[in-house]
Amino acid sequence: MKKWEIAVIPGDGIGKEVVPAALDVLKAVADVHGGISFSFTEFPWSCDYYMEHGKMMPDDGLETLRNFDAIFLGAVGNPKLVPDHISLWGLLLKIRREFEQVINIRPAKYFRGLSSPLAEPREFDFIVVRENSEGEYSEVGGRIHRREDEIAIQNAVFTRKGTERAMRYAFELARKRKRHVTSATKSNGIFHTMPFWDEVFADVKRDYPDVATASYHIDALAAFFVTRPHTFDVVVASNLFGDILTDLGGAIMGSIGIAPAANINVNGKYPSMFEPVHGSAPDIYGKGIANPIGQI
Ligand code: NAD
Ligand code: IPM
Ligand code: MN
Repeated sequence: MKKWEIAVIPGDGIGKEVVPAALDVLKAVADVHGGISFSFTEFPWSCDYYMEHGKMMPDDGLETLRNFDAIFLGAVGNPKLVPDHISLWGLLLKIRREFEQVINIRPAKYFRGLSSPLAEPREFDFIVVRENSEGEYSEVGGRIHRREDEIAIQNAVFTRKGTERAMRYAFELARKRKRHVTSATKSNGIFHTMPFWDEVFADVKRDYPDVATASYHIDALAAFFVTRPHTFDVVVASNLFGDILTDLGGAIMGSIGIAPAANINVNGKYPSMFEPVHGSAPDIYGKGIANPIGQI
């Protein structure tokens, strides 16, 4: 029987509460199942670690993680101790980028018995495929101070390779489900990127004549997630649109505390990373009320 070697990073805030709960469940699954076995190795990398060492993880942290079958992450971020851009680029985003976890799979599914904020919820079951390596989360940009003037510039970077990869992933996934892909766009804006996104979507779609499609502007799509979530199967979205849509996906399920996320390394060179959609929730940390289902 293969023993799965799992690197565990509880991280910050409620990550330290929901990860132990999820490990208990995984251990119970292994016991009951009998045909699966895990070995967990925990790493204390977090904002607390940063306060002690001046970095979010050791210099050879990625080398260490590389040998594991998968990474199980809680959440990163304690803005009272470390500015978010330092903690996130130093751990969460570093792993996503360096390990080429280019696809983020984020399902949302109606659970009977959970109170949804939707007035009359119908069963829904959709997956957002979020592009996880580029787009609005580019490292291109900067800040300029010139006398009293201040400017912040962020350049969104959409490559054909990255865009097409996310879309093909969505179409392949849809083939295993209800054969429907929705594209989250904003090509009515003044952007350069979204008409490009639409063009790539039209090109990819030609290769999947057996899969039906729809395309909505992100603002309308966000509203449809509330008014008719049951009409979606697979939704493909850019990095930022996918980020925003998936907290909404959690919310309509009943809590962002129950939404899961998988950062997938599609080329098999590095481990993938599994985490909840939510963050470290400093507002409830320590109260023992964090919902562990997203982590589980
Ligand atoms: P958040 O997801 O941590 O919290 C948003 C709201 O949802 C809060 O009111 C929180 O109490 C609630 N919530 C979140 N998870 C919950 C759970 N499991 N059970 C019950 N309620 C839950 O988002 P935020 O407040 O914007 O960010 C807090 C910190 O987390 C920041 O430092 C942020 O950068 C970081 N963050 C990290 C990740 C990650 O590591 N993947 C994701 C999102 C935010
Ligand atoms: C998420 C988070 C991260 C993201 C932040 C913390 C950088 O919101 O995993 O959804 O935007 O990707
Ligand atoms: Mn998010």
